[in-house]
Amino acid sequence: MVPAKPKLVETFDPHALDRALAGTIFARKLHYFPETGSTNSLAMEAAAQDAPEGSAFIADYQIAGRGRGDHNWHSESGDSLLFSIVLRPRIAAADTLWLSLMAGVAVQHAIHDQLALNGDLRWPNDLLVNGKKFCGILTELATDLDRVRFAVIGIGVNVNQRAFPKELGDIATSLRIETGRKHARFELLVALLKSLHVEYKTLLENLSRAQRPVLLKRITGISSYVSGKEVHVSESGGYDGTTAGLDERGFLLVRTPAGIRKVISGGVREN
Ligand code: BTN
Repeated sequence: MVPAKPKLVETFDPHALDRALAGTIFARKLHYFPETGSTNSLAMEAAAQDAPEGSAFIADYQIAGRGRGDHNWHSESGDSLLFSIVLRPRIAAADTLWLSLMAGVAVQHAIHDQLALNGDLRWPNDLLVNGKKFCGILTELATDLDRVRFAVIGIGVNVNQRAFPKELGDIATSLRIETGRKHARFELLVALLKSLHVEYKTLLENLSRAQRPVLLKRITGISSYVSGKEVHVSESGGYDGTTAGLDERGFLLVRTPAGIRKVISGGVREN
């Protein structure tokens, strides 16, 4: 039998990555692994042991990638971008949804700038093109009473997959499938981290009550899900309705026959 040809994985040059990120919160705080369990688990452990804000954990392959809820995040070696960042914002625990929303905005802007592709934010932080998901974001937190001690934001982007397993075929896509060409992961990663740096600073500058409309506008500008979308929400036993904007903390409102309901944890799907 002819042995299977090993797949050539474009690995990252950590020094070049570091140079490209000079001036951002991530400079000199990058940790790269060809393979790991989950970059979110690495980042959570490091943050619990005082890893500084801006520490970033990047992998080519995850054996136990985690998604929201009980989901896994599956990826073939070298086709995706898989990374997690540590943030230490001085914000109230009640304001943490902004971090997830901010990450979605950052990815949307970076992909738009790099590839001229218009990602649609499915609240709170899935990114879709043509109704299929190419990016998932998992935010995990440690809090002290009502303050955030640290947050880890894990981002998985499907970059160069040509196809997906049958069970994902109708719901997942990659940047390669959508643009018809292969993409250099290094440049994309740099663009994503730079965009996260900018959006994080913008978030911190605008989180005072008076500035929240600025943040809400950034979100509504990139999401067809925020208002007028017929959706099913799979929390509180599941219900249907039409999206009706965001409240002042960024939570999604849904108009139902029983009145306006606030979506707390996600699980929003188009009907
Ligand atoms: C989701 O859509 O359910 C969230 C998926 C988040 C996946 C990323 S990949 C990098 C980071 N490490 C993980 O284990 N998960 C996140």
